Amino acid sequence: MRAVTLMATVASAMTLAMALSAFDGSIAWSYPGGPLEDVTDAAPYCAGCHSSVDANQLRDMPAQRAQEMLATSHRAAIKAGENAYSKLTPEQRIQLAADVEKVDANAQISLDVPTTLHRGASFAAKVSTEGGSGPVIGVMLLDQDLRNQARAIEAEGFEIVGAPNVVGPDGKQQEQWEARRYDDLARNLNFLVVFGVNADLAKSQFSSTKVIYNLAAPSKPGKYTICAAFLYGTEKASPLGRVEMHGHTQPLGGFAGKSGRIKFTQLKSIEVR
Ligand code: HEC
Repeated sequence: MRAVTLMATVASAMTLAMALSAFDGSIAWSYPGGPLEDVTDAAPYCAGCHSSVDANQLRDMPAQRAQEMLATSHRAAIKAGENAYSKLTPEQRIQLAADVEKVDANAQISLDVPTTLHRGASFAAKVSTEGGSGPVIGVMLLDQDLRNQARAIEAEGFEIVGAPNVVGPDGKQQEQWEARRYDDLARNLNFLVVFGVNADLAKSQFSSTKVIYNLAAPSKPGKYTICAAFLYGTEKASPLGRVEMHGHTQPLGGFAGKSGRIKFTQLKSIEVR
């Protein structure tokens, strides 16, 4: 009787494990790999599992919570062998944490905008990125450099005119993201995914991309602020941080494992006259 109960318990545990892994598989690739089905605008708060590269973007958060959301906390989890990282030896954990740190150190985003503009004037905002594990990175233009409160620049009265120009890591113009828009929906997106990104840690080679937004200044004179946010992955750049699951390359830390990142440019001021 006892054996039967035990077997039933084992069987149901196995069913549960199988069900969980199936669940894992069905949701797992929607985020690592970028939110490829969500071809619309987003704000950085949506990337709840990503880690922040610095504390400034969390200055509105309670100190304890901000600490948990930092990239240092992701690297500490690797070193401590938490969750999936327990599969690695202590030496491998140190190596993976160092690899992730290298990806972070080489991840850059910059924004180039004019400092003064006439109301309604057309201008270009140029965003350049370097780094990220790939296969994609994400970029957005925001009013503030606060991860949980930033809004799309349209909220301030800036207008995005037409599809932004995207130049991929191969130096070629790229329309892959905009082409995913359904039917004849407007293509003047703020959140953009750039494809073809990869990283070669051993050679210290990282992908560069460019996004040029064509914008119109707000119609009301005043002082406005603008910055760009960079969404990228880290673990998949490391041989120790990549796992193949259901035909997709996943970060070892998994779907909710904090290995994604949010980085902001410096906040810039634009005076509209
Ligand atoms: C459930 C957790 C989670 C949420 C929510 C999430 N992401 Fe991610 N994201 C990840 C993980 C994990 C990675 C892969 C990191 C790696 O390679 O180490 C990632 C990577 C990315 C990448 C780079 C692609 C890659 O695979 O490296 C982009 C771009 C991205 N996310 C954008 C977003 C955006 C935009 C949102 C909100 C709509 C979002 N993410 C929400 C977990 C999440």
